[in-house]
Amino acid sequence: MDRQRKNVLFALSASKELGAKVAKHLGMKLSPVEIKHFADGETMVKSVESIRNKHVFVIQSTSKPVNENLMELLIAIDSFRRASAKSITVLLPYYGYARQDRKTLGREPITCKLVADLLQQAGATRVTIIDLHSAQAQGFFDVPVDTCSASYTVLDAMIKEAGTRNTVIVSPDYGSVKRARDLSLLYNLPVAILDKRRPEPNKAEITNVLGFVRGKNAIIIDDMIDTGGTLVAACKALKQKGVKKIFAGATHGLFSRDAVANFNTALKHKYIDRLYIGNTLDNVNHIGIKGLKIVDVSPLLADILNVYMTDTDKSITQLYKKLTHSNSKGRKSWK
Ligand code: R5P
Repeated sequence: MDRQRKNVLFALSASKELGAKVAKHLGMKLSPVEIKHFADGETMVKSVESIRNKHVFVIQSTSKPVNENLMELLIAIDSFRRASAKSITVLLPYYGYARQDRKTLGREPITCKLVADLLQQAGATRVTIIDLHSAQAQGFFDVPVDTCSASYTVLDAMIKEAGTRNTVIVSPDYGSVKRARDLSLLYNLPVAILDKRRPEPNKAEITNVLGFVRGKNAIIIDDMIDTGGTLVAACKALKQKGVKKIFAGATHGLFSRDAVANFNTALKHKYIDRLYIGNTLDNVNHIGIKGLKIVDVSPLLADILNVYMTDTDKSITQLYKKLTHSNSKGRKSWK
């Protein structure tokens, strides 16, 4: 097939499962890649087959172990460049270090920018990121970047269960207001905003609920669940304000530290009625959460890669318009 002749698709260690699903949607085979670990801990990655003059697509989430997966990706890009690939598109279903995008205190690093520099220096010619923590981090790259969101796909699954009657979309913090507003427009739903503070790292406190939530069902979507502190605190605050049912979700489910136990408690005590995540991470950290629904985002990723691989005038913007149109009921506008 023409697609397979010009393009090659790799899935590295952190995204083997997701990569296989994406390849299936595209009607392609994943290209074999050799990943070796030497006795001293060094990694070596290389394509098993020739990739000379091919458009290379590589999928890797830089999730836990973050540094290991990031280094594997950088080495892979370097090897693809030195093997005369025509272009190298890096698809990051999850971008580790994205939250270190500014100095919040003196002497802090901006590691999100450092990772962008490393990816480009290694040889990435285009980068595609799913639900990047802050949109402005696109500016850390000088190569073309597409930041795409799988939250529409996650929301779609939530709406199927929650319905739109008497439902409010809730932003878990100020940083997520734009996402919540965009999602609310799709279904013409009202928005509420939570005033989240972090008294110390990995601790979240909700000090205020802005908007009308009493007696409603709430859909709350974040970009990621790490320790779960944000969503669990958010859902408790919403319950205290008289919300009926709570559907909580995120694109990326990291589930670090006590997240599994905390969500099980929240689900048991009905602070959360149902929890959703996208499958941007292959990990199994969420095993044991009763009431968790995993939403498959691989069709979206395949659609994005299909735009790159097809020699037509297709665009990612058009793809999103199609996606949001098919989801939307009574949508007013979308940007
Ligand atoms: C913060 O700004 C992010 O959007 C997430 O809300 C946060 O990183 C989630 O982390 P945790 O689950 O540890 O509260």
